[in-house]
Amino acid sequence: MKEVKEISEVLIENGQEHILEHLGLMIAEQKEALINDLKQVDFKLLDSLFETYKKLPTSKNKKKVFSAADVLSFDEGDVSVKEKKRLYAIGEDYLSQGKIAVFLVAGGQGTRLGFNGPKGCYPISPVKGKSLFQLFSENILALQRRYGKEFPWYIMTSNENNEETLSFFRKNSFLGLNEHNVRFIIQKQIPSFDFNGKLIISRDKKLLKNPNGHGGSIQALYDSGALTEMKNSGIEEIFYFQVDNPLVKIADPLFAGAHISIHGEISSKVVRKTDPDERVGIIGKVDGKLGCIEYSELSSEKVRERKEDGSLLFNSGNIAIHMLNRNFVEKLNSEENKGLPYHLAVKDAVALVVKSGTHTLEYIKSIKPEMFIFDALSFAKRSATLEVERSEEFSPVKNSEGKDSPETARRAMVERCIKWIYKSGKQDLFPKEASVEISPLFAFDVEGFCARFVSLPEASSSFYIE
Ligand code: UD1
Repeated sequence: MKEVKEISEVLIENGQEHILEHLGLMIAEQKEALINDLKQVDFKLLDSLFETYKKLPTSKNKKKVFSAADVLSFDEGDVSVKEKKRLYAIGEDYLSQGKIAVFLVAGGQGTRLGFNGPKGCYPISPVKGKSLFQLFSENILALQRRYGKEFPWYIMTSNENNEETLSFFRKNSFLGLNEHNVRFIIQKQIPSFDFNGKLIISRDKKLLKNPNGHGGSIQALYDSGALTEMKNSGIEEIFYFQVDNPLVKIADPLFAGAHISIHGEISSKVVRKTDPDERVGIIGKVDGKLGCIEYSELSSEKVRERKEDGSLLFNSGNIAIHMLNRNFVEKLNSEENKGLPYHLAVKDAVALVVKSGTHTLEYIKSIKPEMFIFDALSFAKRSATLEVERSEEFSPVKNSEGKDSPETARRAMVERCIKWIYKSGKQDLFPKEASVEISPLFAFDVEGFCARFVSLPEASSSFYIE
């Protein structure tokens, strides 16, 4: 087979000849699939990642200097209210001109949640059981109605969940959106390797590989042609969010305005930490450059350090909501920048190994390379960090129970609705302990809600406001 010969040469040249033993034990179909996988491998990249891995002990010992980021937050004072209005108007102006695209990263595996399927299909809303995807599309639809423009929605999937995600949208008639405005882009995969830099064969006789992280979105936007498409349709800014947060305020005008007003390249939303030990990434400065500080990187003293006003110094929890300037994303893909750096994590894996001429399974440690979107912050010349209220905007679904689970997210959704009802001043008939859900089509923010809400439907233990 000519293909085997060709790939053998590549494997030998790159020190991966152990794969030849595997190929020798496979039937034609398996061989073909594995060769196809191998053809996609960027051996030069693999080599440089292994070199980085070998140097990790030294680079980890390098002392990093952490400092807090400058954060924009608004209180109820006159100056704040005026400035908030100004920024909001800038965001609204961009929305009215159709200059903002919506971008969801949904390529992750969601293993922690224990849900069999793409996370976005998870039924989350407390009364109607709407999926995360449904809530997001209703929010987009409502934005379209408010601003009289159609906003393209780009969804990044991975090889692992693209088919299922697409069929969910098809089966549900694109959740009320115009099919042409929903675009799927598939992120790249990257192989894992062992402690000797060798590629790993998985139990299904394929290369062990994973989606390249949410930071892979920067490359995926470029490779898929989405950036060019955006440019051609007058899109200048991209609202980026993760699939796990049902409280997200899609394309929030205030956030967009804060970013646009300073000609931001990438901006972030943050929430105050619940307590010093909360395990959340912090938007802050690392050696003077903006980035995300992992909770494990800060010492126990640093984590507790407080400012004069008593608040924590490292208080800006990363909720993974960003505004990305389209030109900036293009720049990150240029020859000079070559995309974002990779993080290397050690993970348990089951590998197929060749022993005494046959295949056997072994538990091994593997190195999984991944890129993170927040690393783009260190490339940015200008960036806004906007602090928002957690109860209004963030309650992620990550674990099957306990913290950040469907239960906590549903509770947060209900509590936000109750807050809105009280804010409207029309809470008279609201029974304690009732469950309530507001359709994003009725209102997707408190201002919109108060402007429309008249009264609750007849007394019940659960309400759906639409
Ligand atoms: C992430 C952040 C953390 C932040 C938290 C907020 C990292 C390392 N940490 O944590 O700082 O406080 O979110 O909720 O990111 N995804 C892809 N492709 C991939 C991998 C992930 O599209 O290859 C998507 C997922 O579908 C999901 C999002 O990225 O929408 C988050 O991924 P996940 O790995 O769950 O991040 P967290 O560890 O929860």
